Amino acid sequence: MAIAIERNAPPVRSGSFGPQWDMGDEEINELIEVIRAGKLGRLGGSKVDQFERDFAEMNGVNYAQAVTSGTAAVHTAVGVIDPNPGDEIITTSITDMGTIIGILYQNAIPIFADIDPATGNLDIQDVEAKITERTKAILVVHLFGNPCPMEAYVALARKYDLFLIEDCAQAQLAEYGGRPVGAWGDFGCFSFGGKHMTTGDGGMVISNRADLSERLKWFADKGNPRHPIYEHYYLAPNYRMTDLQGAVGIAQLRKVTAAVRHKQWVASHLNEVIDGEEGLSLQPVLPEARHSYWAYGFHVDAALMGASATQFAAALQAEGVPANAPYMIYPVYKYPVMAQQRAYGTSDFSWAGEAATAIDYGSLSLQDSEKFLETTVVMPMNPSYTEQDVADFSAAIKKVSDYYRSKLSA
Ligand SMILES: Cc1ncc(COP(=O)(O)O)c(C=O)c1O
Repeated sequence: MAIAIERNAPPVRSGSFGPQWDMGDEEINELIEVIRAGKLGRLGGSKVDQFERDFAEMNGVNYAQAVTSGTAAVHTAVGVIDPNPGDEIITTSITDMGTIIGILYQNAIPIFADIDPATGNLDIQDVEAKITERTKAILVVHLFGNPCPMEAYVALARKYDLFLIEDCAQAQLAEYGGRPVGAWGDFGCFSFGGKHMTTGDGGMVISNRADLSERLKWFADKGNPRHPIYEHYYLAPNYRMTDLQGAVGIAQLRKVTAAVRHKQWVASHLNEVIDGEEGLSLQPVLPEARHSYWAYGFHVDAALMGASATQFAAALQAEGVPANAPYMIYPVYKYPVMAQQRAYGTSDFSWAGEAATAIDYGSLSLQDSEKFLETTVVMPMNPSYTEQDVADFSAAIKKVSDYYRSKLSA
């Protein structure tokens, strides 16, 4: 912003950008089939069934359960592992609330471990330090599409006999050790809202757990086993995806690899620019990992740059480039539902009773989680970015960096 105001110079970029998804006749043709069949729901239709099969195959797993959102996907995974009220699930506070909601709805307790301030992903040592006899699961998030070290998490979960859930909402087609994320843990959870592919809203849970595959299916369908005679086994929501969404999902899935490859290409160019600017730094990717870049994050060192991440992102916006900072207003533990544990009307009845109220989330402070939000700029990635778009991003990043650093040395 400062540049445009002080120099009265035109922004680097004034035009708009292409669509967030490649969408057209393929989706329309799939949808027409559903409407002609006259079965818009998944029960009696065929599209969600096919979407699940295609999704499982693409990720190399045996089971895939379609649901209505990424939030529903995580809730379903938590519902399948069936914690007792007060059981603990260790996770990160630098994430969408959708990671946490399912834990609260199952009356379990989120325990927030700190993160690596460079990647924004959980710090595995802090995760291990937070394991207690109440711990039921570890829930990792591959932030922005950057994979966590899954071999180490599988070993940790085995060592303590815990479930391992992967929140892959931002990380479809990211890989660790040559295997897609989501296929490492007991359950992998995906979102089809504003992510690499879309069904409007939607989600998927994948798994190789044959012993839990029926519960996975039934938990997303009111605990109803769909036997000829109507019955319900346990408390569970209705998260059934419609066949309209399933139809779009089939077509989108055919395009998602190309979308991710394109974002990886954009990121490789941005990496070169960020790496060359004093005061900016990359978010590192593990050597065994392949980032899928749902978003592109980088760090601003305020002392070297003479600007905070928030100022830097605002200046990029003023140059016509999409960028945000902070990624979220504050870590999840500061949200009212956590800090005050008000869940049900005006009552003091917390989401997990006394075990939860014993935790004072409001005064929690995870230093590296807070630092990550202070230093990170996030750029949304788009499969339709052109070479010109990427050149404009690079020019804007250089221009904003030069501007702030020159003010610093003046
Ligand atoms: C890491 C993460 N988990 C869960 C979700 C929830 O997904 P949905 O919005 O589809 O419910 C999101 C969505 O932004 C997310 O980014």
